[in-house]
Amino acid sequence: MVKKVVVKAVGGFEQLQVEKDGPPPEPLPDQVTVEVKACALNFYDIYIRQGLSPDTQPPCTLGLECAGVVVAVGEEVDTVKPGDHVAVHCPKGGACAEMITVGVDSVLVVPPEMSFDVAASFTVTYLTAYFTVFHMGGLREGGSVLIHSAAGGVGWAATQLAKTVPQVTVFGTASQHKHQAIKDNGVDFPIHYDQDYETEVLRQRPQGVSLVLDNLSGADFTKSQNLLEPLGKVVLIGARSMVGKEQRSLWQVFKVWWDTKNVTPYSLVMNNHSIAGFNLNELRNKDPANFNRGWKKILEMITAKKLQPRIDSVWKFENIIEASKQISERKNIGKVIIKP
Ligand SMILES: NC(=O)c1ccc[n+]([C@@H]2O[C@H](COP(=O)([O-])OP(=O)(O)OC[C@H]3O[C@@H](n4cnc5c(N)ncnc54)[C@H](OP(=O)(O)O)[C@@H]3O)[C@@H](O)[C@H]2O)c1
Repeated sequence: MVKKVVVKAVGGFEQLQVEKDGPPPEPLPDQVTVEVKACALNFYDIYIRQGLSPDTQPPCTLGLECAGVVVAVGEEVDTVKPGDHVAVHCPKGGACAEMITVGVDSVLVVPPEMSFDVAASFTVTYLTAYFTVFHMGGLREGGSVLIHSAAGGVGWAATQLAKTVPQVTVFGTASQHKHQAIKDNGVDFPIHYDQDYETEVLRQRPQGVSLVLDNLSGADFTKSQNLLEPLGKVVLIGARSMVGKEQRSLWQVFKVWWDTKNVTPYSLVMNNHSIAGFNLNELRNKDPANFNRGWKKILEMITAKKLQPRIDSVWKFENIIEASKQISERKNIGKVIIKP
């Protein structure tokens, strides 16, 4: 039997459970089977539990990413072999299981000396940060960026990537007790939640910033636009404001959706501003070659120690509720890992 972490139904933490199931199917010609050693949690898992994900609804197996050892490959697979260590991306969930069978395009071979915790934790966060900071955000020398939840997975990665560009100024929001950690990671101006981040950014940089990675949406989307300097850009990457309490509030969801519509093309033209949106899963669906180039580039940078993923904590599958609360209760700095 194979253990897995499931979301039984839309609801609170009690919907996260460990179940046993039969082994995964034998790999089809273009698939591989992986014995999973570590899985990373993401903020997106909260959206799924609360029924806020458009493409993955409970009941389902949790998890967008994991790492492990290849134990079997389909007959057409020639890029991966049994014994290889791999990072695995499961855009529709399903990564949190002792053993999984996935398409060969869902795995990336990693060096055997990389820990499984790190291998499990860089795909979603660093790729999101990479494409939004560089491809969409176009961050340049001397630029400036506002990164929300700078101690979270994407925030941690985005800070490090932004700091690979010379003379970039990074503003980052996080709970007060995380400020030393985000400063050590490269944030120049940490902002806590008793402060109004719009006022704080403009106090330091009255002309505004060149890039805002907006993971909040709602009324904050308007604030993001107000913070841009000429030629600046907002990249919308999330809707964290939809998540308030343990259970979803449909009123809050509606309000955030409504407020996020607030873009005035005339104002974009008159201010020389751009707005962009990013979704990693859709990038992989629609442009897998670009996704893969980014995946390999990030692996290369981590292997060369140019980037340092941070593991916040490691839990057993059986402690999934505590592990999940580590994120929901805003305690994590870096990635939360669970293991079979
Ligand atoms: N577009 C994409 O393809 C894509 C991909 C990955 C992630 N994202 C988005 O990026 C954002 C960050 O994701 P992540 O996985 O990096 O996050 P994460 O590591 O899970 O970050 C969790 C942190 O966010 C902060 N936070 C702020 N408001 C919160 C709330 N209402 N509930 C719980 N925590 C809250 C907390 O830290 P502080 O309170 O200290 O700030 C918490 O520790 C999310 O909005 C996610 O949807 C988008």
